[in-house]
Amino acid sequence: MSSAPISNAAHQPGWFATERKDPWYVSPLAIGALLLAFVVYSTAVGLIGGYHWLNGTGYLSPFYSPEIYGWGPHAIWQGAPGFWPEWLAKVLPFSSAFLILAVPAGFRLTCYYYRKAYYRSIWLDPVGCAVGEGRKTYWGENQLPLILWNAHRYFLYLAIIVGFILLYDGIKAFWFPVDAAGKQFLWTVGGKAVEGAAYVRTTLDPTHEAGWKFGIGLGSIILIINPLLIMGYTFGCHSLRHLVGGRKDRFGPTPCGQYKAWRFVTWLNEHHDKWAMGSLVWVGFTDLYVRLCAAGVWHDVMIYSPFAK
Ligand code: FES
Repeated sequence: MSSAPISNAAHQPGWFATERKDPWYVSPLAIGALLLAFVVYSTAVGLIGGYHWLNGTGYLSPFYSPEIYGWGPHAIWQGAPGFWPEWLAKVLPFSSAFLILAVPAGFRLTCYYYRKAYYRSIWLDPVGCAVGEGRKTYWGENQLPLILWNAHRYFLYLAIIVGFILLYDGIKAFWFPVDAAGKQFLWTVGGKAVEGAAYVRTTLDPTHEAGWKFGIGLGSIILIINPLLIMGYTFGCHSLRHLVGGRKDRFGPTPCGQYKAWRFVTWLNEHHDKWAMGSLVWVGFTDLYVRLCAAGVWHDVMIYSPFAK
């Protein structure tokens, strides 16, 4: 049997130098554009400090959840926290998103899949297989700053907690506030239903809903899909797979709970890239939906209304 030489595009020195003929640049370009768009969008909506919940519903933007300090019916403590100094508030007014965005940002920044994505698309280091790069030495990830990426497992623990909080938000999105007559309850500021600029850093009137009723809006469905995608991404994490069973050489003769858990994480892990990008796009869209409904640009569609006529 004759052995054919293995075709292999030689690694060329210098930025983008390659003998590859396929459109290898499409994937890093598209992923880079998506990642940059997400970073710009999430930074902008985090700074806005409002329009993150929708009056008359249980909808809360995932970018602002859990809302530890803030303004609105979902905040645990109303207003800005005492540790946000006045001098800072003058240049950077407090936003509830500041206390939470570091967890998903840190989790995704240190994720093994995203590292590959932005090393290629943003840092161009390397931009693709058999494509030249500018740097001549390889430092690896065993010294500063990239050694910090080893914190991924700790971000995982926090991300699991946030995932369950977002699941709670998704379930809560099926419950709508009602007044004593069973009609839709609207939170107010100065006696007027909250809308427009009143969504931003404004203290609500001390009136409360009489109860909550089950209903289904388009937002309910969007908000419940969000944690399912995020959990599909989180529970397919490489660190979790190692934690659940990766340290074992083999499992026992009968399938045990640990083996089943490892199989489940492995099953999710096989498509970790798709869960990563799908959940990224959907979490952004979920925020956009709540935000545009709050701004009055879009109107939430009630599929099953719980309100008395
Ligand atoms: Fe991607 Fe852990 S490796 S979330």
